[in-house]
Amino acid sequence: MERLQDTLGRTFPYLRLSVTDLCNFRCSYCLPEGCFDHHHNNALSINEIRRLTLAFAAVGTQKVRLTGGEPTLRKDFLDIVSTVKQVPGIKKVAMTTNGYKISQCITQWKDAGIDSVNISIDSLDPKAFELITGHDRLKDILKGIETGLASGLSKIKVNAVLMKGLNDESLDSFINWVSNKPVSLRFIELMQTGSNTRFFNDHHVSGMKIYDDLINRGWKTLPRELDAGPAQEFYHDDYRGRIGLIMPYAPDFCHNCNRLRVTSQGQLQLCLFASSGIELRDLLQSDDQHEELVIRMRESLKLKEASHFLDQGITGMTRNLAQVGG
Ligand code: 5AD
Ligand code: SF4
Repeated sequence: MERLQDTLGRTFPYLRLSVTDLCNFRCSYCLPEGCFDHHHNNALSINEIRRLTLAFAAVGTQKVRLTGGEPTLRKDFLDIVSTVKQVPGIKKVAMTTNGYKISQCITQWKDAGIDSVNISIDSLDPKAFELITGHDRLKDILKGIETGLASGLSKIKVNAVLMKGLNDESLDSFINWVSNKPVSLRFIELMQTGSNTRFFNDHHVSGMKIYDDLINRGWKTLPRELDAGPAQEFYHDDYRGRIGLIMPYAPDFCHNCNRLRVTSQGQLQLCLFASSGIELRDLLQSDDQHEELVIRMRESLKLKEASHFLDQGITGMTRNLAQVGG
């Protein structure tokens, strides 16, 4: 079947699927007051997720990332993983987690079919970590990462949101941490959302300083894989780990957009900062609706914009990334 394409010829090997809006952390840039969404019970069921993934796989999706909120708050998380993994054409199943359950569960995730795990760690200082997330869990999360590496999970990435005055002077501690660990640590520029304007104005900082610091310290840039995320990755012969930089405010950030998002309520989001979603859920109710679903997805793609409008402060319907999983 023909691959899904937008009007600019971009294809979409990568689906980010949110399986719940709920989160138990209170990251300062995302849910500083905690989570007030109560959609959890109404999130897509396993059967809906299976039909959705079958449709995406039929039009060229090869990698699915399970996100939230916090995806592991779903009691049937392992079933979700194996269901998605079993869909023909899906080669990689990844997940993004706040790490809350990582030390107990990472081996189970791997056994269910997870190929790669992204964990959010905004600071390697336990106190700063607690200040940012509301949870004193850093030590436990770092232990979970070691367990994952020991169990043979080779793709572990760590996300750190770059924040002025909170962690933008921490490059050395992060570099030091990856020196003997085969993990990829990525700095993400803080993005403005509908509910974090004040925090954004106080803490947003460009990633270019990190870029320059890395180059000055002898780090070299790596080419990007087809289904990869938007990170520019760097390597250094003296370090086992890699460092990446995600700069959504760079002018060419959206040129290679290769991903689509589906919310936990079954709405297709053409962009992280789209102004509205496209309902897919009514077509996830029986296996017979597959063709109709694919047609709606193709039609919807005609509406995908060339880029987000974040540089103009337009954040679309995204109040926080817990709604759409980053
Ligand atoms: N800006 C940048 N990154 C964010 N994340 C959540 N909210 C924001 C934001 N406003 C990150 C999380 C997680 C990833 C999915 O997105 O820290 O690592
Ligand atoms: Fe939860 Fe992730 Fe938002 Fe933090 S960034 S509050 S872990 S959804």
